[in-house]
Amino acid sequence: MIPKDTIMSILDAVRIEEVVSDFVSLKRRGANLLGVCPFHKEKTPSFIVSPAKGIFKCFGCGKAGDSVRFIMEHEHYSYPEALRYLANKYGIIIEEKEQSPEELMAQNEREKMFNINTFAQQYFSDVMKNNDEGLAVGMSYFRERGFRDAIIDKFQLGYCLNQRDAFIQYALKNGYSKDLLLKIGLASGNEERLYDKYQGRVIFPIHNLTGKVIGFGARILSGDKTKAKYLNSPESEIYNKSQTLYGIFFAKNEISRLDNCILVEGYADVLSMHQAGIENTVASSGTSLTSEQIRLISRYTKNITILYDGDNAGIHAALRGTDMILEEGMNVRIVLLPPDEDPDSFVQHHPIEEVRAYIENNAKDFISFKTQLLLKNAANNPIKRAEVVKDIISSISVIPDAIYRATYIKECSRLMDMPEQSLMNELNKQIRAKIRKNNPIQEQQNIVVEEVKTEPQNLNANTIPVGFYQEQELVKLLLMYGDTEIDIDGLDENNEPVIYKVSVASLIVDDLKNDDLLFKDETHRMIFDIFDRALDEGLLPKEQYFVSHENSKISELSATLLSSPYKLDDWNRKEIRVKTEEDVLSKLVVTSVLRFKDMVLDEKRNELTRQIMETQNVEDQFALLVKKKKLDDLRIKINQELGIVIAK
Ligand code: CTP
Ligand code: MN
Repeated sequence: MIPKDTIMSILDAVRIEEVVSDFVSLKRRGANLLGVCPFHKEKTPSFIVSPAKGIFKCFGCGKAGDSVRFIMEHEHYSYPEALRYLANKYGIIIEEKEQSPEELMAQNEREKMFNINTFAQQYFSDVMKNNDEGLAVGMSYFRERGFRDAIIDKFQLGYCLNQRDAFIQYALKNGYSKDLLLKIGLASGNEERLYDKYQGRVIFPIHNLTGKVIGFGARILSGDKTKAKYLNSPESEIYNKSQTLYGIFFAKNEISRLDNCILVEGYADVLSMHQAGIENTVASSGTSLTSEQIRLISRYTKNITILYDGDNAGIHAALRGTDMILEEGMNVRIVLLPPDEDPDSFVQHHPIEEVRAYIENNAKDFISFKTQLLLKNAANNPIKRAEVVKDIISSISVIPDAIYRATYIKECSRLMDMPEQSLMNELNKQIRAKIRKNNPIQEQQNIVVEEVKTEPQNLNANTIPVGFYQEQELVKLLLMYGDTEIDIDGLDENNEPVIYKVSVASLIVDDLKNDDLLFKDETHRMIFDIFDRALDEGLLPKEQYFVSHENSKISELSATLLSSPYKLDDWNRKEIRVKTEEDVLSKLVVTSVLRFKDMVLDEKRNELTRQIMETQNVEDQFALLVKKKKLDDLRIKINQELGIVIAK
């Protein structure tokens, strides 16, 4: 734990231009500095650093934030790690809060586990390079498989002698306890009789995100089918299999630079791909793919390319992986290799340009993949076709975002040459069935899932939800002027006109709360809630609080919004008669609130119109019409205030 006041003094000390220029060369451009973005590939610089605001922002890829965020993104550090880095840079000493005895114990235990793993890795590597058996058996095995010294060294591969307890004796002599050796899985047996777990196997150390060894995979060299091909470390305080990806430490920078992660199945596949220079590759070794592993990848990219064997097992695993990736809201493409090849053999036997071209040309989105796979012998069989469609739609149904679902339905309709409406019906059926399965009690409730509007819709992945911009406008005003006081016309207790002085934040927050209106976007809502609480407490946060916020969504959005400020004096030129900046601001706030309300009302009105069309009962219809009339009157009033004329 880093104490709060230390965090504050770190944030006070850092200068964004100094932090960034350790990694990016910056040129002065007016009040700002300009450079080539380190987070995406670009030729013309669009990466801006604002020393005055303490933020960076890339107008190419959209990344934005303060110094802490920059270090987190660039070095793939956690929040505390980034703070430590900055403290170190500015010579600030972090006196961590005293830990409780239990915390200390746990800390020591983990420390010891890391230590023994590093010790064992060095021993196994040393044996493979310098011991006769190590060289003759371990090293020659890797060389025969085509692995060169550079990759063997980089991934710290090794060999465990084919003896009963050579490693154990060495470890005990160096002061490691039997208890620890058993717990970390380097020894088998019991405290009386220990023996080496990985006898006669080659060793693949498994690294965490910061490059520490957290476990091992050990491959047998004989073809002995009675023994496991791989022995893997057991789970421990430092090794959680479902959250680990083999190769992630060596791949993470390349994954984020290329904005794509290639997923393979085995240790050897990762090594061969990295050796060939395709370094954005990781494997879910030791377990089948988990959602936690997918979420780990999502820290670096939203795009995953599955590259599995072309055999049945590989296809099956690819299908399962596809749905899991879609379920996490990520994009997936699938490349199947020719039968009898895995990425390792394919890369070892083909020139690298051919491998890249193969991946590029054979990567399919999941709909084309499934279509091609399932339709193989059934193109003209209607029953088979229907099954394929259902199968594809079941994949679409797991995607969390409705807009993406609709986009894929369109794609499926095009590929399978079927009407969108019937695909949408099937999708709704499947989603309802799933909801029913998960909440059997709510079965009776009428769940409206989604519908295809009759008018043509422009659906693509970039579609922004209704009202997003109106919400964002209000958030921007909160961030920039939340604590600024403005004059508002109102009435006092005696209905006499009076001018109130209120903060922009209280004007926006109280007004929306009064009408029970909520932002839809999660990040917008978080920022709204922060202001709501701050108003209760009477101390409004400043810009800096938001750009330095620990929640990356908040800090990123704040930095983005703050990096394109309003030019309040511009308004004078638009022939709007205003006197002061404050006057402009007050107009801006009031109209933004009205626009937001107008949007909400418009949505409600559309919903009512829909209900009126659907209702058969005349009385219901009448009641709905009355409601709609009220809404229309309200909208007319709002739009009069906005100075907009709407046709009835
Ligand atoms: N695996 C495992 N335990 C096994 C078999 C496999 O943990 N008994 C894991 C390993 O991570 C392995 C991956 O599943 O790398 C894929 O298995 P497989 O294709 O059998 O191994 P390869 O990595 O291809 O090994 P090799 O090429 O050396 O035969
Ligand atoms: Mn293999």
